[in-house]
Amino acid sequence: MDTKPTLNKDLEKQVAAKAAVKYIKANDIVGLGTGSTAFFVLQEIALLVKEGLKIKGVATSEKTAELAVNMGIELLEMNDVQRIDITIDGADEFTESLQLIKGGGGALFREKIVASLTDKEIIIADSGKKVELLGKFTVPVEVVPLALNYVLRKLAQLNGKGKLRNKEDQTPFVTDNQNYIVDADFGLITNPADLANSLNQIDGVLAHGLFINLTAMVIMGKGAEAIIYSGN
Ligand code: 5RP
Repeated sequence: MDTKPTLNKDLEKQVAAKAAVKYIKANDIVGLGTGSTAFFVLQEIALLVKEGLKIKGVATSEKTAELAVNMGIELLEMNDVQRIDITIDGADEFTESLQLIKGGGGALFREKIVASLTDKEIIIADSGKKVELLGKFTVPVEVVPLALNYVLRKLAQLNGKGKLRNKEDQTPFVTDNQNYIVDADFGLITNPADLANSLNQIDGVLAHGLFINLTAMVIMGKGAEAIIYSGN
């Protein structure tokens, strides 16, 4: 079995995570992302906290909250913060213009609220996540279960082929908010902002994975190098 690609990817994730945590300052409120890339950030933050850095985290999922607590990172509830200084999260795809698809791990709703509360949203990624146009990765859509079939029809009207996300046992994947995820294939997306607006208007859609103008910076690991894409 060839494990090299995964190892290289993990190295790139770690390189990006190490570069990103340098933007955290003492006493910051820090949004904590979800997924295998964001996990490297949790590890880096836990090290800094052990060395004495004072920060408080806001988790984007139950899983991240559990990991953070186990690593000794103090947490705040989302409802108890008015703003977040910096968030470091992963993505499924990003473009150089800092538009994203997120939600592969199903945490898109909380990730979007945290991103919206955040002054500096930093996305970290391995080099396989960079694309010219979003859309090879399907767009995750969090759907209130009783509206599933209605939403699938609405997605079809937008030329999206929606598929209910199942777990390995073929029962529906259920989010931290007790909803379903539909993974919607729109082909390559030439105007993500327009599509995001259309998705926002579907009743029964709690959130979708198109993150438009929410990101200040993407840090991509490429080999041992951290490459920064920034809006400034
Ligand atoms: C979770 C997310 C993740 O950031 C995204 O799916 C990337 O995950 P990974 O770092 O494991 O590739 O949006 O909802």
